[in-house]
Amino acid sequence: MKKIGVLTSGGDSPGMNAAVMAIAKFASRYGMPLVGIKRGYNGLLRKSTSIYDDMEELHLDTVLDIADRPGTYLRTARCMEFMDPAWREVAANTLRAMEIEGLVVIGGDGSFHGAEHLCKLGIHCIGIPGTIDNDLPYTEMTLGYDTAVNVCVNSVRAIRATSRSHDRPAVVEVMGRHCGDIALTTAVSTGSEIVLVPEVPWRVEDVANRLNQQIAKGNTRATIIVAEGCWESMEPFDMFTFLNSHGKKCYEGEPISAMRFASIMKRMCNNAEVRATVLGYTQRGAEPTARDSAFAYEAGHLAVRLLRDGISNQVIGMKEGKVYYRSIDEALQAKREFNRPLYDLVNHL
Ligand code: F6P
Repeated sequence: MKKIGVLTSGGDSPGMNAAVMAIAKFASRYGMPLVGIKRGYNGLLRKSTSIYDDMEELHLDTVLDIADRPGTYLRTARCMEFMDPAWREVAANTLRAMEIEGLVVIGGDGSFHGAEHLCKLGIHCIGIPGTIDNDLPYTEMTLGYDTAVNVCVNSVRAIRATSRSHDRPAVVEVMGRHCGDIALTTAVSTGSEIVLVPEVPWRVEDVANRLNQQIAKGNTRATIIVAEGCWESMEPFDMFTFLNSHGKKCYEGEPISAMRFASIMKRMCNNAEVRATVLGYTQRGAEPTARDSAFAYEAGHLAVRLLRDGISNQVIGMKEGKVYYRSIDEALQAKREFNRPLYDLVNHL
């Protein structure tokens, strides 16, 4: 294989730059020119007026310094056009025109579907799991998850400190889309008292009971970690009627949020000063931890080696602590297993 490309796609995740650096390092070692494609699959769609907006030749000395930087040097995007076979054909033609024979795609499951389609069009693709969500079951870790959890743990520790000073229970919302792993690991690592995740159905009244029990025991700064997707597993609750009848203005049809949930807890827990914090994008913008950087390095190396050896249609992951690869198809079909025993342990169920 002569020339290869790399792109980052979907939500950015700490470690993406480290992976690009590793790819550049090993592409250079194996004598394969490397092209960085900008803004995910968008960079292949020829919508820009200049090719320099879409692509850049990546030399090792350009990217050597980016390895520990947060964000992604190549920029990223979610590319809706890639759902359309006609646009995928445009992308494959662009790669052929540029004589790029192999492509490393760093992203989540949506990005891997895109890579699988490109493979069918004759482009050699290898995926590296870049997402903070840890929602790809074929791998024990995704790139950025460890960093995101560490950001959450540091933030929750700080929140618990001020919560203790003020005797305030806390609701802290973390990311993860439909996956509760960030929430669960954060709860365990911080000794938080309650965790709510999309994988397990829950009732507002039960959570209030548990919080009341904590307060009654003297734990006036109990913390509820909520995964952003936990609202989808909440049993129906009439927030509109409850809040309006408890002196808090609420609009019909308003969606529940961490802030609203804290208001509900306050009113169900004897006016305890429950406060909410949404950690949001802080989880995505941190410098990668050593664990994420090391995974990025090994995954980057393996991706280049596979392309060099003509192996395609694979994704890289971690299994029993070792970096490995398997077919995109098998990886995308792997079933997720949520750690229910750990969840029960946190929630004292
Ligand atoms: O997939 C990573 C992630 O950060 C999710 O945890 C979150 O739901 C989503 O991306 C947010 O996406 P956006 O950057 O489009 O707001």
